[in-house]
Amino acid sequence: METTQTAPKKTLYSAIQPTGSITLGNYIGALRNFVLLADDFDCLFCMADLHALTVRQDPAALRRNTASLAALYMACGLDPEKSIIYCQSHVPEHAELAWILNCFTYMGELSRMTQFKDKSAKHADNINAGLFAYPSLMAADILLYQTNLVPVGADQKQHLELTRDIATRVNSLYPNLFTVPEAYIPKTSARIRSLSDPTRKMSKSDAEDSYIALLDAPDVIRRKFRRAVTDSETEIRYDPENKPGVSNLLSILAAMENVTPEEEEAKLKGCNYGALKEAASEAVISTLAPIQERYQALMGDKEHIANTLKSGAERAHYLAQKTLRKVYKKVGLYQL
Ligand code: TYM
Repeated sequence: METTQTAPKKTLYSAIQPTGSITLGNYIGALRNFVLLADDFDCLFCMADLHALTVRQDPAALRRNTASLAALYMACGLDPEKSIIYCQSHVPEHAELAWILNCFTYMGELSRMTQFKDKSAKHADNINAGLFAYPSLMAADILLYQTNLVPVGADQKQHLELTRDIATRVNSLYPNLFTVPEAYIPKTSARIRSLSDPTRKMSKSDAEDSYIALLDAPDVIRRKFRRAVTDSETEIRYDPENKPGVSNLLSILAAMENVTPEEEEAKLKGCNYGALKEAASEAVISTLAPIQERYQALMGDKEHIANTLKSGAERAHYLAQKTLRKVYKKVGLYQL
């Protein structure tokens, strides 16, 4: 009798820090792609709460934001029955592997990370060792699960490259210990820009008017887009280099409608900037409306969120300890 064999799925891993409001940048650069890719992979989606501690957090807000991000993952369409949705601090192997990887990561590499430089400048009074070693914890997240693919926005590319370098370095001493992961970075819209300063990326740690939060009400979204910085010309043209504000609005609109920014440019030929802003706000509002509705319903059932995270942590822990045990053995730690 013939049996149909399906090849085992590859592993996909990504994480978001549960800090501040999750933005449209997080959604377009990362979260949306998690949902698009989820069916084709064995997936883990993490709330990176240990990473969040590298800058000072209000403990109550961090706890609230962690539950809220879990609900948002699900509201955006991730199914906890299929994908593992869990919280980083619930799986102690992350911190344990991070220590080992710290011993395989060079100071020079860490000091070249642009995120470290940016965050050190922003938090000059708190340049702590955790902030410096942030990328080796991120490498541990990814390598623990023998990950093949990591969907992220463009700002995480450098961290992904370092993860690959660390994995390759360790593998050269201990062959085949880690799968070397690939980054999945969307070709367009991998870097959504701030609405108030389109030379910078949209970031949840900046002023509120500079970003759209996934949970913003429709009138707030309209107001923020109306105030979005463009330029002194009148032509709607996709030219990120010379027209960052207009190009950003075209990228957002294109992402919402699953077309390219160039196609949006053609559709809006001859229109003024007001029309572009209105098209972008209405497209964002209609994309976010069902997500917000599901989010509210999910947040009404805290027990369901807690149960989801508990089962996610158990499933993640099972996989993580398999890799960690192998690593401890290979590097020579005495086994009982
Ligand atoms: P975080 O929490 O800063 O951002 C989460 C995801 O959103 C993407 N992103 C953007 N994409 C496009 N335009 C933007 N303006 C924008 N802002 C943020 C980020 O690239 C990211 O994919 N270090 C990570 C979290 C992390 C992680 C991991 C990611 C921890 N461990 C392991 C992947 C794998 C971070 O701070 O993301």
